Amino acid sequence: MGITNHHKLLVIGGTGYLGDWVVRLAKQTWEVTATHCTSPAGQHAVTWQRLDVRNGNAVASLVERIAPDVIIHTVAANPGPQPDFEGVNVRGTRQVARAAAHGNAYLIHLSTDVVFDGRQGNYRESAVPHPLTAYGRSKAQAEAAVQTTGGKYLIVRTSLIYGWRPQLDRQTRWILTGLRNQDPPHLFTNELRSPVWVESLAAALLELATLKATGILHIAGAQPLSRYEFGVRLARFHGFDPAPLIPANSRESALNRPPDCTLDCSAARQLLATPLPGVDKVLGLTKFAPHSKLRL
Ligand SMILES: NC(=O)c1ccc[n+]([C@@H]2O[C@H](COP(=O)([O-])OP(=O)(O)OC[C@H]3O[C@@H](n4cnc5c(N)ncnc54)[C@H](OP(=O)(O)O)[C@@H]3O)[C@@H](O)[C@H]2O)c1
Repeated sequence: MGITNHHKLLVIGGTGYLGDWVVRLAKQTWEVTATHCTSPAGQHAVTWQRLDVRNGNAVASLVERIAPDVIIHTVAANPGPQPDFEGVNVRGTRQVARAAAHGNAYLIHLSTDVVFDGRQGNYRESAVPHPLTAYGRSKAQAEAAVQTTGGKYLIVRTSLIYGWRPQLDRQTRWILTGLRNQDPPHLFTNELRSPVWVESLAAALLELATLKATGILHIAGAQPLSRYEFGVRLARFHGFDPAPLIPANSRESALNRPPDCTLDCSAARQLLATPLPGVDKVLGLTKFAPHSKLRL
């Protein structure tokens, strides 16, 4: 794989968990502009611009000014208190897609495995989205906006993103904080996902930025795990006893959650040189001193 020197990359959402890694890896070989919104500009030595994707004029004028060859759009409103799914995920993505098409930039848009209802599992790219949650619905609408805008795009559906440097991902932090505070979380045994290491996902996105593949691609880790099995591995890796984690079944909760959103990533494995290892491989291969550098 050869990465083109000095081509312009715009990372929308450079302060996010994934965006930070994309910027970190891209700055070696791309001329990178990255955006932040509510957070301060990131630490990496690239050009930072403040951008709220809900402001269509701001999106259009930034893309026009930068004239990027490639845009990687990692912005999302996540489930939480009063998330603006419609404004950020749907309208914001439509505005990014329009600006990319207008500027003739290749757009990589990040989507999610929860566009599926989880009844089938091992979803291929051709499977029809049928989201159960408000977040999933907004991400499915965002995909549709990208597909109907008319530019050159790739929709990358991924799964739970995890990592530990420079900091823990949200889910791991939540699990470990619960264990540390003797308030262990309930983790579903019947909810299967394909967790992906942030560093391999970011590398795969940058490989795709040079390949310029189009359409939809599933990129996730090679090992399907339940949330409980994943939590046990994360706890052990970070030096915690996983025994207090509470196995739970989502069917016994009031939540309507997709049970099996595992992704078939065979197309990505054929296309990419970047490996997409499963959790055991990632956690077994990496050298990491548990406890010592953990900042919860
Ligand atoms: N995390 C997962 O497990 C997971 C799983 C499947 C799919 N995905 C998808 O992968 C992508 C990256 O996820 P992530 O977890 O890395 O995201 P994240 O850490 O939550 O980062 C979100 C980014 O979006 C920016 N942002 C939020 N609202 C914005 C707005 N109105 N205008 C402009 N920027 C805004 C944030 O900027 P500020 O911080 O500066 O406000 C931040 O850079 C998302 O598209 C997500 O849907 C994630």
